[in-house]
Amino acid sequence: MARSLEALQRQYARSIDPKKGGMGHGPGPGGPGRHGRASGKPKNAGATVKRMLSYVAPYKYLFVVVIICMLGTTASSLFGSAMLRPIINHIAESGIPAAERMSYLMKMLLILGGIYLVGVFTNFFQTKIMVHISQNASEHIRNDLFTKLETLPVRFFDTNTTGETMSRFTNDVDNIDIMLGNSLVSVVSGLVSLIGTFCMMLYLNIPLTLITVAFIPLFIKGGGWIAKRSSKYYGGQQSALGAVNGYIEESVSGQKVVKVFNHEKDCVEEFTALNDDLRDKQFKAQFYGGIMGPVMGNTSQISYAITAGIGGILCLLGKFDVGGLSVFVNYSRQFSMPINMVSQQTSTIFAALAGAERVFNILDMEPEQPDTPDALPFGGLKKEIRLDDVTFGYNPDKVILKHISLYAKPGQKIAFVGSTGAGKTTITNLLNRFYDIDSGSITIDGVNINRIKRDDLRRNIAMVLQDTHLFTGTIRENIRYGRLDATDEEVEAAARTASAHSFIMRLENGYDTMITGDGANLSQGQRQLLNIARAAISKAPILVLDEATSSVDTRTERHIEHGMDRLMADRTTFVIAHRLSTVRNADAIMVLENGEIIERGDHDDLLSQKGRYYELYTGKKELD
Ligand SMILES: Nc1ncnc2c1ncn2[C@@H]1O[C@H](COP(=O)(O)OP(=O)(O)OP(=O)(O)O)[C@@H](O)[C@H]1O
Ligand SMILES: [Mg+2]
Repeated sequence: MARSLEALQRQYARSIDPKKGGMGHGPGPGGPGRHGRASGKPKNAGATVKRMLSYVAPYKYLFVVVIICMLGTTASSLFGSAMLRPIINHIAESGIPAAERMSYLMKMLLILGGIYLVGVFTNFFQTKIMVHISQNASEHIRNDLFTKLETLPVRFFDTNTTGETMSRFTNDVDNIDIMLGNSLVSVVSGLVSLIGTFCMMLYLNIPLTLITVAFIPLFIKGGGWIAKRSSKYYGGQQSALGAVNGYIEESVSGQKVVKVFNHEKDCVEEFTALNDDLRDKQFKAQFYGGIMGPVMGNTSQISYAITAGIGGILCLLGKFDVGGLSVFVNYSRQFSMPINMVSQQTSTIFAALAGAERVFNILDMEPEQPDTPDALPFGGLKKEIRLDDVTFGYNPDKVILKHISLYAKPGQKIAFVGSTGAGKTTITNLLNRFYDIDSGSITIDGVNINRIKRDDLRRNIAMVLQDTHLFTGTIRENIRYGRLDATDEEVEAAARTASAHSFIMRLENGYDTMITGDGANLSQGQRQLLNIARAAISKAPILVLDEATSSVDTRTERHIEHGMDRLMADRTTFVIAHRLSTVRNADAIMVLENGEIIERGDHDDLLSQKGRYYELYTGKKELD
């Protein structure tokens, strides 16, 4: 049965607010961002706008050009309108011969054409420059966002769906882009035009101007009422969009599992629920954003009609001329136009504000704890790696590892065995500081790993993770990912060590074969071999192999044993394996159960203890 909408939303549009359970775990890495919210009304629209504008600040000189262009556009429009007054008055004048009127009209029309042409050019440049500025700004935002992602702790990626994160790069940044490129110009040029028109109106007729201005509070009140409602729905729209994207991403990447378990129908149902929710939120947001224009337009029609009526009466009383009135009503229309224009941008502006908040939420997240100023370089491993009474939980309310103590001397091979979920991978997550421990200490030659530069530490620990991952690129590039300056010969040597060479050579393009879709064109075992080759090419003195050969057949495994032995000979290795034959020759084997080491020793010791290891090895009791 399909899950409830609430559950789906919680899952796919995880708020990064720790209070909502997204990022969890106190103020440590990835803890609360300064603006811990992802939906609803913009919390501090002023600050968000200011921050968005900071991305266009580097283009302030270009912005000056844009403003000059805007002034040109507005002036051309105002003067163009103003010229109608003498034209109309001249035509309406009865005593002038028709031919003279005609030639005057032609002359004036030519001038008018010239004035409007200026407007066309200034408008063209203003648009071009603004598009340039907004595109650069959004490139900058995307860069900042991506750079930030690379600094976020593993916890972030463990708790946010890929689609939701992608949504920030696409929809949210796009909305900001549209606002900067479009709405910003509208607002500024609207303001320029408003002031210009107001001055021209005052110049033409003060009482009529006052009547027009009297309608402004009505505009503001009506606009404010709608804006308040619509802003509320835009945040909801963006996070619903994130949820939909998160769900699509997961369904696409997990499509095989969906098919295996015949969940296509449930999948469609769940998607429909999320999609319906998006439609509802989008409807509300777009509706309130959309009615802004018509409501304002109608209000301005009323103001227009009243102004024209009173202006007509003034003309009849001889207090105003017909040409002047034509121009004035034209201005009164222009006067409300910028207000209309800006109000029509409301939807864009609110979508951008909501998007910007979500983007800034990520930008404000705590990155991985930075290295302390006195952080040390990795000084090599001469004496030992030691875990002393290490206790750790991914969440504060659930302890996973309890009082783990062990050591590894240079060149030793330490193995972890134990049932699924016992905490084996978790120990390796702590060694390279994917997560920091809660209590106890992990030291290398007596130096706490918290005090070692994180990059340096990770460079010196080669890992074959339990989940294989390959990037889009050639096989050669994927192996070289382990050490970018490795030569082609070294790549081949690493592949031979991992017993990957022969299968690679059987591929059509050998080492230049492209890997697509995380290695979908390879078998699972082949993917593992490439992951081992990637670790083999690294010169790191510490090696972690987490189920590195679990998908490789036993014959190939035996075959690579020699290579692996060579690989491990001069390295300190931590090996995790369910297939106990692969850990038999380890210097020490730790048997983990529920996050505790319940037995330790070498293979023979452990067999003679006739405890859990004996049960696992002899098969007298099956693995969980
Ligand atoms: N990112 C995470 N957040 C929260 N809990 C986690 C996370 N990763 C693992 N756990 C929990 O920690 C416990 C230990 O997991 P771990 O991955 O270390 O097990 P393992 O011994 O490697 O198991 P396996 O043999 O299946 O690989 C499990 O109970 C698991 O639910
Ligand atoms: Mg594991």
